[in-house]
Amino acid sequence: MRRPIVAANWKLNGNRSMVSSLVAAVNKHAASAVSADVVICPPFPYLVESRALIDQGNAYLGAQNAAKETNGAYTGEVSAEMLAEIGCRFVIIGHSERRQYYGESDSIVAEKFVRVQEAGLIPIVCVGESLQQREQGKMEQTIISQIQAVIAKAGISNFNNAVVAYEPIWAIGTGETATPDQAQQVHALIRGEVAQQSESIASELRILYGGSVKADNAAELFAQTDIDGGLIGGASLDAAQFNAIVSAAG
Ligand code: PGA
Repeated sequence: MRRPIVAANWKLNGNRSMVSSLVAAVNKHAASAVSADVVICPPFPYLVESRALIDQGNAYLGAQNAAKETNGAYTGEVSAEMLAEIGCRFVIIGHSERRQYYGESDSIVAEKFVRVQEAGLIPIVCVGESLQQREQGKMEQTIISQIQAVIAKAGISNFNNAVVAYEPIWAIGTGETATPDQAQQVHALIRGEVAQQSESIASELRILYGGSVKADNAAELFAQTDIDGGLIGGASLDAAQFNAIVSAAG
């Protein structure tokens, strides 16, 4: 039985007053999410402050990115070890916005996956196709090569301590959600790809859906066989919305 995860990806949003109200409300609600894990991923400057507000079971702190290096002359970067030291448990890597706006290739994402695990943290590795790739019939090929790049670098056995998020780029922040059937199809594809190398790891792997998940479409998405929760952007900035999504998973 896979325990669902609902992760809040605040992206480049928030301020200190939002940290105190939103993290506190989500943390409190997480105690009632008896069968789901809740991960809160605010921007770096708010991680320490958020950590102090997370004291309920089921709630964890996550970061939105980590460096592919461990330390050294890399101005502006934050290492996975630093994130571990301040109490993070998860790190989102390879989000399509990082791939698109910051040039993160499949191989960079794979290196980050390894660094995050070396620091004792759990990577939430994002994959997803663009609208153009879907329309050109390249969705499967895109997803498979994104997954394979990480497997090739990290080894299949390390997927026993990782989470995958399927986020079709055309559904992120657009209000357009993949239908539960469309999402399920890709989740099954991802699980099948992992199963080719290890059926036991595939059956335990938690695969989240992300892309315009809201309180009113979450339950239907989470009811799909291979969907084990969600990675939530816009709706994670509103405590009532996000907590309703958590309830739909738990
Ligand atoms: P969204 O973002 O929920 O605003 O579509 C999801 C994500 O990018 O993680």
